[in-house]
Amino acid sequence: MSSTILVIVGSTRDGRFGLRVGKMMVKALEKRQSLKPILIDPLDYEAPVGKHPLGPRDTEVLPSKLQPLDGMVKSCSGLVLVTAEYNATIAPTMSNLLDYFEPASYKHKPVHVVTYSLGSFGGIRARSAILPMCQELGMVCLPSGITIPQVATANIDEEGKCENNDRLTPKVEELAKEMEWYVRALEDHKIKSPL
Ligand SMILES: Cc1cc2nc3c(=O)[nH]c(=O)nc-3n(C[C@H](O)[C@H](O)[C@H](O)COP(=O)(O)O)c2cc1C
Repeated sequence: MSSTILVIVGSTRDGRFGLRVGKMMVKALEKRQSLKPILIDPLDYEAPVGKHPLGPRDTEVLPSKLQPLDGMVKSCSGLVLVTAEYNATIAPTMSNLLDYFEPASYKHKPVHVVTYSLGSFGGIRARSAILPMCQELGMVCLPSGITIPQVATANIDEEGKCENNDRLTPKVEELAKEMEWYVRALEDHKIKSPL
Protein backbone atom coordinates (compact mmCIF):
# COMPACT_ATOMS: atom_id res chain seq x y z
CA MET A 1 0.00 0.00 0.00
CA SER A 2 1.34 3.46 -0.84
CA SER A 3 1.63 6.28 1.68
CA THR A 4 0.14 9.65 0.84
CA ILE A 5 2.39 12.70 0.96
CA LEU A 6 0.76 16.12 0.74
CA VAL A 7 2.83 18.65 -1.18
CA ILE A 8 1.41 21.97 -0.02
CA VAL A 9 2.11 25.08 -2.09
CA GLY A 10 2.19 28.35 -0.14
CA SER A 11 1.38 30.99 -2.72
CA THR A 12 -1.59 32.09 -4.79
CA ARG A 13 -0.21 35.08 -6.71
CA ASP A 14 -0.78 35.36 -10.45
CA GLY A 15 2.44 34.17 -12.08
CA ARG A 16 3.60 32.41 -8.92
CA PHE A 17 6.61 30.11 -9.00
CA GLY A 18 5.30 28.04 -6.10
CA LEU A 19 3.21 25.79 -8.31
CA ARG A 20 6.21 24.85 -10.46
CA VAL A 21 8.26 24.01 -7.39
CA GLY A 22 5.39 21.98 -5.91
CA LYS A 23 4.96 20.03 -9.16
CA MET A 24 8.70 19.36 -9.25
CA MET A 25 8.49 17.80 -5.79
CA VAL A 26 5.46 15.72 -6.82
CA LYS A 27 7.40 14.34 -9.81
CA ALA A 28 10.31 13.28 -7.61
CA LEU A 29 8.08 11.69 -4.95
CA GLU A 30 6.13 9.79 -7.63
CA LYS A 31 9.31 7.92 -8.49
CA ARG A 32 9.41 6.38 -5.00
CA GLN A 33 7.46 3.16 -5.17
CA SER A 34 5.80 3.38 -1.77
CA LEU A 35 4.77 7.05 -1.93
CA LYS A 36 1.71 8.70 -3.43
CA PRO A 37 2.16 12.48 -3.57
CA ILE A 38 -0.82 14.81 -3.85
CA LEU A 39 -0.37 18.45 -4.81
CA ILE A 40 -2.33 20.87 -2.65
CA ASP A 41 -2.94 24.18 -4.38
CA PRO A 42 -4.34 26.74 -1.92
CA LEU A 43 -6.35 28.30 -4.75
CA ASP A 44 -8.56 25.18 -4.69
CA TYR A 45 -9.41 25.52 -1.00
CA GLU A 46 -10.25 29.19 -0.37
CA ALA A 47 -9.11 29.47 3.25
CA PRO A 48 -10.32 32.84 4.55
CA VAL A 49 -7.45 34.78 6.12
CA GLY A 50 -7.50 34.76 9.92
CA LYS A 51 -10.93 33.17 10.41
CA HIS A 52 -9.62 30.08 12.20
CA PRO A 53 -11.92 28.49 14.76
CA LEU A 54 -10.53 28.22 18.28
CA GLY A 55 -10.39 24.95 20.17
CA PRO A 56 -11.14 21.62 18.53
CA ARG A 57 -11.27 22.11 14.79
CA ASP A 58 -13.82 19.44 13.94
CA THR A 59 -14.30 19.01 10.23
CA GLU A 60 -17.85 20.45 10.38
CA VAL A 61 -16.69 23.81 11.78
CA LEU A 62 -14.30 24.36 8.89
CA PRO A 63 -15.31 26.28 5.76
CA SER A 64 -16.84 23.73 3.37
CA LYS A 65 -14.02 23.89 0.83
CA LEU A 66 -11.50 23.02 3.55
CA GLN A 67 -13.37 19.99 4.86
CA PRO A 68 -11.94 17.46 2.37
CA LEU A 69 -8.46 18.80 3.01
CA ASP A 70 -8.95 18.28 6.75
CA GLY A 71 -9.43 14.55 6.09
CA MET A 72 -6.37 14.48 3.84
CA VAL A 73 -4.17 16.12 6.46
CA LYS A 74 -5.45 13.65 9.06
CA SER A 75 -4.78 10.60 6.92
CA CYS A 76 -1.55 11.56 5.14
CA SER A 77 1.78 9.98 6.05
CA GLY A 78 3.99 13.00 5.44
CA LEU A 79 4.11 16.54 4.10
CA VAL A 80 6.28 18.68 1.87
CA LEU A 81 5.81 22.40 2.48
CA VAL A 82 6.76 24.62 -0.45
CA THR A 83 7.06 28.26 0.52
CA ALA A 84 8.66 31.39 -0.88
CA GLU A 85 10.19 33.99 1.38
CA TYR A 86 7.81 36.91 1.83
CA ASN A 87 9.16 39.80 3.88
CA ALA A 88 11.82 37.67 5.53
CA THR A 89 9.39 35.00 6.66
CA ILE A 90 6.90 32.29 5.58
CA ALA A 91 4.45 33.08 2.78
CA PRO A 92 1.26 34.08 4.66
CA THR A 93 -0.89 31.75 2.56
CA MET A 94 1.06 28.81 3.94
CA SER A 95 0.77 29.68 7.63
CA ASN A 96 -2.89 30.64 7.21
CA LEU A 97 -3.70 27.27 5.62
CA LEU A 98 -1.72 25.16 8.11
CA ASP A 99 -3.44 26.91 11.03
CA TYR A 100 -6.84 25.59 9.95
CA PHE A 101 -6.11 22.02 10.98
CA GLU A 102 -5.69 20.35 14.36
CA PRO A 103 -2.10 19.93 15.57
CA ALA A 104 -2.99 16.25 16.19
CA SER A 105 -3.40 15.80 12.43
CA TYR A 106 0.26 16.69 11.88
CA LYS A 107 1.72 14.96 14.90
CA HIS A 108 4.61 12.53 14.32
CA LYS A 109 4.49 12.99 10.56
CA PRO A 110 7.69 13.68 8.61
CA VAL A 111 7.95 17.04 6.88
CA HIS A 112 10.30 18.43 4.28
CA VAL A 113 10.55 22.16 3.74
CA VAL A 114 11.36 23.54 0.30
CA THR A 115 11.91 27.28 0.02
CA TYR A 116 12.71 29.54 -2.90
CA SER A 117 13.15 33.19 -3.79
CA LEU A 118 14.06 35.40 -6.71
CA GLY A 119 17.32 36.42 -5.02
CA SER A 120 20.48 34.61 -3.97
CA PHE A 121 19.46 33.19 -0.61
CA GLY A 122 16.73 30.80 -1.71
CA GLY A 123 14.29 31.76 1.03
CA ILE A 124 16.53 30.67 3.89
CA ARG A 125 14.77 33.04 6.29
CA ALA A 126 11.42 31.46 5.43
CA ARG A 127 12.98 28.08 6.16
CA SER A 128 14.21 29.28 9.56
CA ALA A 129 10.76 30.64 10.32
CA ILE A 130 8.72 27.62 9.26
CA LEU A 131 10.70 24.93 11.05
CA PRO A 132 9.65 26.01 14.57
CA MET A 133 6.08 26.16 13.29
CA CYS A 134 6.32 22.55 12.04
CA GLN A 135 7.79 21.55 15.37
CA GLU A 136 4.99 23.29 17.25
CA LEU A 137 2.49 21.29 15.19
CA GLY A 138 4.25 18.08 16.19
CA MET A 139 5.80 17.20 12.84
CA VAL A 140 9.13 15.43 12.49
CA CYS A 141 11.37 17.90 10.63
CA LEU A 142 13.64 15.98 8.28
CA PRO A 143 17.33 16.84 8.07
CA SER A 144 17.56 17.56 4.34
CA GLY A 145 15.97 20.61 2.83
CA ILE A 146 16.07 22.62 -0.32
CA THR A 147 16.56 26.32 -0.80
CA ILE A 148 16.18 27.43 -4.41
CA PRO A 149 17.85 30.75 -5.24
CA GLN A 150 16.97 32.67 -8.41
CA VAL A 151 13.87 30.54 -8.86
CA ALA A 152 12.91 32.39 -12.04
CA THR A 153 16.02 31.03 -13.80
CA ALA A 154 16.25 27.64 -12.05
CA ASN A 155 15.01 25.82 -15.18
CA ILE A 156 11.80 24.53 -13.60
CA ASP A 157 9.07 24.56 -16.22
CA GLU A 158 5.33 24.99 -15.65
CA GLU A 159 4.85 21.23 -15.35
CA GLY A 160 7.58 20.98 -12.72
CA LYS A 161 10.14 19.45 -15.03
CA CYS A 162 13.60 20.56 -13.97
CA GLU A 163 16.44 20.14 -16.42
CA ASN A 164 19.98 21.45 -16.59
CA ASN A 165 20.17 22.31 -12.93
CA ASP A 166 23.03 20.24 -11.56
CA ARG A 167 22.54 21.42 -8.02
CA LEU A 168 18.79 21.06 -7.77
CA THR A 169 18.10 17.76 -9.56
CA PRO A 170 20.07 15.49 -7.18
CA LYS A 171 18.81 17.42 -4.16
CA VAL A 172 15.18 16.87 -5.14
CA GLU A 173 15.78 13.13 -5.62
CA GLU A 174 17.56 12.98 -2.25
CA LEU A 175 14.62 14.59 -0.49
CA ALA A 176 12.16 12.15 -2.01
CA LYS A 177 14.33 9.19 -0.99
CA GLU A 178 14.71 10.52 2.52
CA MET A 179 10.95 11.05 2.83
CA GLU A 180 10.30 7.47 1.81
CA TRP A 181 12.83 6.20 4.36
CA TYR A 182 11.31 8.22 7.22
CA VAL A 183 7.73 7.34 6.29
CA ARG A 184 8.60 3.64 6.36
CA ALA A 185 10.53 3.95 9.62
CA LEU A 186 7.83 5.93 11.40
CA GLU A 187 4.86 3.97 10.06
CA ASP A 188 6.44 0.63 10.90
CA HIS A 189 7.21 1.82 14.39
CA LYS A 190 3.73 3.26 14.91
CA ILE A 191 2.30 -0.18 14.12
CA LYS A 192 4.75 -2.08 16.32
CA SER A 193 4.65 0.33 19.21
CA PRO A 194 1.60 2.65 19.27
CA LEU A 195 1.98 5.72 21.49
C1 LIG B 1 5.15 40.47 -0.78
C2 LIG B 1 6.46 39.88 -1.18
C3 LIG B 1 7.52 39.92 -0.27
C4 LIG B 1 8.75 39.36 -0.62
N1 LIG B 1 9.76 39.36 0.29
C5 LIG B 1 10.92 38.73 0.00
C6 LIG B 1 11.95 38.63 0.99
O1 LIG B 1 11.83 39.07 2.10
N2 LIG B 1 13.07 37.97 0.65
C7 LIG B 1 13.25 37.40 -0.59
O2 LIG B 1 14.31 36.80 -0.81
N3 LIG B 1 12.30 37.48 -1.53
C8 LIG B 1 11.15 38.12 -1.27
N4 LIG B 1 10.14 38.19 -2.20
C9 LIG B 1 10.38 37.56 -3.50
C10 LIG B 1 9.73 36.17 -3.52
O3 LIG B 1 10.44 35.23 -2.75
C11 LIG B 1 9.59 35.69 -4.95
O4 LIG B 1 8.88 36.66 -5.67
C12 LIG B 1 8.84 34.38 -5.07
O5 LIG B 1 8.77 34.03 -6.42
C13 LIG B 1 7.43 34.48 -4.50
O6 LIG B 1 6.80 33.24 -4.56
P1 LIG B 1 5.62 32.97 -5.61
O7 LIG B 1 6.18 33.29 -6.97
O8 LIG B 1 5.29 31.52 -5.46
O9 LIG B 1 4.51 33.88 -5.20
C14 LIG B 1 8.92 38.76 -1.90
C15 LIG B 1 7.84 38.72 -2.79
C16 LIG B 1 6.62 39.27 -2.43
C17 LIG B 1 5.47 39.19 -3.41
